[in-house]
Amino acid sequence: MKILFVCLGNICRSPTAEAVLRTMAAREAPELTLEVDSAGTAAYHVGEPPDPRTRAAAARRGYDLEPLRARVIASADFERFDLILAMDAQNLRVLRQRAPRAAHERLRLLLEFAPEGELREVPDPYYGGPNGFEHVLDLIEAAVRGLLAHLRQRARAA
Ligand code: 4NP
Repeated sequence: MKILFVCLGNICRSPTAEAVLRTMAAREAPELTLEVDSAGTAAYHVGEPPDPRTRAAAARRGYDLEPLRARVIASADFERFDLILAMDAQNLRVLRQRAPRAAHERLRLLLEFAPEGELREVPDPYYGGPNGFEHVLDLIEAAVRGLLAHLRQRARAA
């Protein structure tokens, strides 16, 4: 199963989701064979490591974002990945514009996998304060737990 997370800059939310899924899957679902990646819809930060505030907040919870570098989503990604999970509605709209029809059923919001009552979107933390980065981590950790349950079910059904 190949999972791609997508946000705007690929330096805050989607690299966080990438590291959280990798870490949680290794610990809680080692039977799943996952390929995990992330990308942005905008090119402002291509080639850069994740934002220092994102790296620090993630590191405090045991997630290593150091090796990651920002990239933009490419047309080949729409063929390659089984699930393409956007962090917010705006980025989902951009994905729908760029993806071929056949890929649309693989485009979702990450927070569809979060528990009932959670937000639907992971808010952009870039221009906010430090609490925003903790909130991003809380939302992503909860959604990735739900995503892992979904992936286990899919693996059993396959
Ligand atoms: P991300 O956050 O989409 O979660 O990586 C942002 C990063 C950079 C910018 C906006 C959001 N920016 O405007 O440069």
